[in-house]
Amino acid sequence: MPFNVRPEIQQPVRDMIKEIGPQIQEMGRSEDRKPDSFSFDIFRLLAAKGCVGYVMPKEYGGGGRTALEYATMIEEIAYWDAPSSLLAAVSQLAVDPITRVGTDEQKKAIIPKSAKGELIPAFALTEPNAGSDAANQQTTAEVDGDNYVINGEKIFIMHGDVAHVGVVFVKIQEEGVRDKISSVLVDLNLPGVKKATLMHKMGMKYATTGRLWFDKVRVPKKNLLGEPGKGFKYAMQTLDGARIGIAAQATGISQRALDESVKYSKERIAFGSPIAKLQAIQWMIADMSTKLEASRLLTYKAAALQDAGEKFTVEASQAKLFASEAANFCVDRAMQIHSGYGYIGEFSPIEKLYRDQRVAEIYEGTSEVQRLVIAGNVLRG
Ligand code: CAA
Repeated sequence: MPFNVRPEIQQPVRDMIKEIGPQIQEMGRSEDRKPDSFSFDIFRLLAAKGCVGYVMPKEYGGGGRTALEYATMIEEIAYWDAPSSLLAAVSQLAVDPITRVGTDEQKKAIIPKSAKGELIPAFALTEPNAGSDAANQQTTAEVDGDNYVINGEKIFIMHGDVAHVGVVFVKIQEEGVRDKISSVLVDLNLPGVKKATLMHKMGMKYATTGRLWFDKVRVPKKNLLGEPGKGFKYAMQTLDGARIGIAAQATGISQRALDESVKYSKERIAFGSPIAKLQAIQWMIADMSTKLEASRLLTYKAAALQDAGEKFTVEASQAKLFASEAANFCVDRAMQIHSGYGYIGEFSPIEKLYRDQRVAEIYEGTSEVQRLVIAGNVLRG
């Protein structure tokens, strides 16, 4: 039984996800075998259950849940099907800065529909030459009367291929903010916007990743999100919270890898007894369960700090760094324990888990970026 910091809060979340777990797992298995395309079926199911709008503000139609409840929900969904946890989480990436700095009009236009899953928003930060170095944004917004004219390209944008609206990070070509980053809301169905699905992803196939091109896209100036020149700060604040989500996702994956390994090692007979009797297997199980518990505690700690309104940048990066590397370890050990029955997808979920988990060490800041964030903050004191 996974540890609960606050059982009265977390248990109902676990129970809710248990109701749809087997269904999303089954749907995920079948989506995974198709060429990469966004799973509207799973997305709608999660939205109907309230998972997509889970932490969006109540006054704008969201669930108004806490970061701890959110982390628990993502962990549980990832246990059943990791890509489904992304389908549930990604809309929040774009809604987060809108909630924090958007006008009432912007919030009303985007949050209620996003919470219901009727509108898909995307967080468009990364560019071909601005990945880890997110400050090196090249997308520009020229000022033309009451409009911005946007030119540039974004890549690795989660759900960008199917999104209706983007929080797009740009450099507004105006005195005083030319070299700084700003954020603008862009209708992604406007003339001049081109979208594509990035194909042949290793895992997480049906929570798609997109590419966006902007060619002289005219957007009203009232679509500026927050203050000009503050976009980098907004992006970093959003990523702080999102990194807890990735840590939770990785924790769910590790739990699944452990549970599958325990079950299999008790059933599989070799050398006359279940392989669970072998010390070689026991050591793997011990290491997996220890890393899993540490991942969970770091994740809950970061979420609890966020809920308490305290600074949690370092804790979110620590949780994301540790939990994603632990998931890699746990799934790799699960593969070793299952051997051929792990490597071949028709026998167990391990082959799919292996592909799905790997990106946790890459997106929303690589492990190297998390180390930069942690070291920078620790050294500053
Ligand atoms: N909260 C608030 N402000 C912050 C902040 C935070 N967490 N982190 C930095 N800032 C502010 C700093 O205070 C500083 O402000 P001032 O200029 O006013 O002093 C400013 O931002 C610049 O800070 P740094 O000098 O630390 O910034 P940097 O350029 O050295 O970058 C970095 C640091 C950590 C490497 C950063 O670029 C980074 O996080 N890169 C990774 C980006 C990332 O995670 N990308 C993933 C995108 S989302 C995704 O994966 C796709 C998807 O759709 C899921």
